[in-house]
Amino acid sequence: MKKIVLIAVMTFGLESIVRKELEDLGYKKIISVSDGRIEFEAEVKDIPIVNLWLRTADRVVIKMAEFKALDFDQLFDNIKSIPWEEWITKDGKITVNGKSVKSVLESVRSNQSITKKAIIERLKAKYNIDWLEETGPEFEAQVSIYKDMALLTLDTTGFGLHRRNYRTSTGEVPLRENLAAALVLLSFWKKDRLLIDPLCGSGTILIEAAMIARNIAPGLNRDFASEQWPGIPIKYWTDARDAALNAIDKTIKPRIFGYDIDPQRIKDCKINTKNAGVGNDVIYQQKDIKDLILEETQGIIISNPPYGIKLSTAKEVLPIYSALDELLKNKPGWSLFLLTADKNFPNHFKRARPDKIRKLYNGTIEAGYYQYYSEKEPKQLQ
Ligand SMILES: C[S@@+](CC[C@H](N)C(=O)[O-])C[C@H]1O[C@@H](n2cnc3c(N)ncnc32)[C@H](O)[C@@H]1O
Repeated sequence: MKKIVLIAVMTFGLESIVRKELEDLGYKKIISVSDGRIEFEAEVKDIPIVNLWLRTADRVVIKMAEFKALDFDQLFDNIKSIPWEEWITKDGKITVNGKSVKSVLESVRSNQSITKKAIIERLKAKYNIDWLEETGPEFEAQVSIYKDMALLTLDTTGFGLHRRNYRTSTGEVPLRENLAAALVLLSFWKKDRLLIDPLCGSGTILIEAAMIARNIAPGLNRDFASEQWPGIPIKYWTDARDAALNAIDKTIKPRIFGYDIDPQRIKDCKINTKNAGVGNDVIYQQKDIKDLILEETQGIIISNPPYGIKLSTAKEVLPIYSALDELLKNKPGWSLFLLTADKNFPNHFKRARPDKIRKLYNGTIEAGYYQYYSEKEPKQLQ
C-alpha cells in the first residue's frame, strides 16, 4: 500500500509524549521530531486511526511537500507540481492557512493567495475544467515557511483533537482535554492506582484518566474533516471506529476521585463524565481542599490550582497551597503532580523540592508541571 507522510502537530513540550503515543499505536517509523511536530510514515488507512486515538496531539496533517522558496515564482511552481488531485476533489472547497517565520516571503497573505492559485491551477489542468465550483468537501491546506523552507500540508482533523465533545459544562478556565491527558500520561498513575484531583473544576483530568483506564479512544465521539474525503474509503473509518469500540475495557474498576469547593463544578463534572462514557468511574464530592483527608497510604494527586488570568490573584491561592502542604505533609506514599503558571508554588509546598519541573504551555501561558514523587517511585520519569 502507498506510503504517505503524516505530521502530528502538538503544543511545545508534548513532543515526547505524542511520540510515545504514536509508538504505542504501532507507528515506529518516526521520520523526525522537531518543536511541536512529529513526522512519521503511514498509510491512508492510518489517518482515521491516529485521529481517533491520539490523546495529546492537536491535529494530524498530510505532508504534501517541502522545498526552498525564495521568491513567489518558486513558491507557485513548486506548489503547482504537487499532486493535490490525489486528495482534493473536483468540487473541493479549498482554504489555505499560512505562517512565515524568518523568511524572505514574509507576507502570509500573499503566500496564502499564491498557494491557493497554484492549487487551483493544478486542479483545473488535472480535471480539465475552467473553474472549480468549490461546493463539495472541505480541504484546508497550510503553507508554513520557516527560514525560507516551505512546508505544504493538508489538514485531516478539522476542529482540534482536544475537542472530544464530552464537555458541555465548564468553569471559567478549564484545561484543554489533550493537555489534561498529557498530565495523566506524564505522571506515575496507572489504571489500578488511586487518583485524586482536589481542585477538579470541570473534571477534565479525571475524565481523561478514566478514558485512558478504559482504553476509550478520545475521538470516538466526534467527526473529522477528512471523513468527507473520497480519498479515504469510508470502510477505513468504520473499521477504525469498530476496532476502537471493541478495544474498550469493560472489566476494570478505576479508583478516581474529584473534589471542588464550588457545587456547580461538581454538577458539571457529573454531566461531563457521563457524556464521556465513564459516568461510573469517577466519584465526585463538593469539598474545600482544607477539609480533605487522605485515608489511604498511597496514591497520586494530579491537579491544576486556580492561578492568574481571570481566576484569582496570587494571594487567594495561598490558602490552597497551605492546604495541599498540610494534606501531603505526613503522606510519603503520595505523589503530587501539579500544573501551575505560578513560579512561587514550590516555595509554599514544603514537603520537598520538586523531583522534576517540566515546562508546558496551557494555551499561550507558560506553566510548570511540578512533580513530587512518593518514596516508592523510581526517580526517573520520561
Ligand atoms: C483552574 S480550576 C481547575 C480546572 C480543571 N482542571 C478543569 O480542567 O476544569 C481550579 C478549581 O479549583 C477550585 N477551587 C478553588 N478553591 C478551592 C478550594 N479551597 N477547595 C477546593 N476547590 C477549590 C475552583 O472552584 C476551580 O474549579
